Amino acid sequence: MSDLEEGEIFHAEVAGSGNFAIYLVEGKVYASDNICTHGAATLSEDGYVEKFNVICSWHDGAFDIRTGEPAALPCMVALKTYPVEVKNDEVFLTI
Ligand code: FES
Repeated sequence: MSDLEEGEIFHAEVAGSGNFAIYLVEGKVYASDNICTHGAATLSEDGYVEKFNVICSWHDGAFDIRTGEPAALPCMVALKTYPVEVKNDEVFLTI
């Protein structure tokens, strides 16, 4: 968890399971798929965090990091989110 910075998006690749975006917002860790549901943008590279939203810079769509629900058009399909547990400074996702 010490690799995470508040408001930054960390990319995690898990062999055989895919790519994930990890967020630290107001001291809490969240995780979602790393690909925008509107297009093929990679949120860890093409996105940025504003409060509890991840904004996809390709078309300025947004998702609520906590739930994955779309927060701004043109995003209309929810982003898959994953439960996160932090143990001994390590972040574990339930995929
Ligand atoms: S690809 Fe993300 S908003 Fe269009």
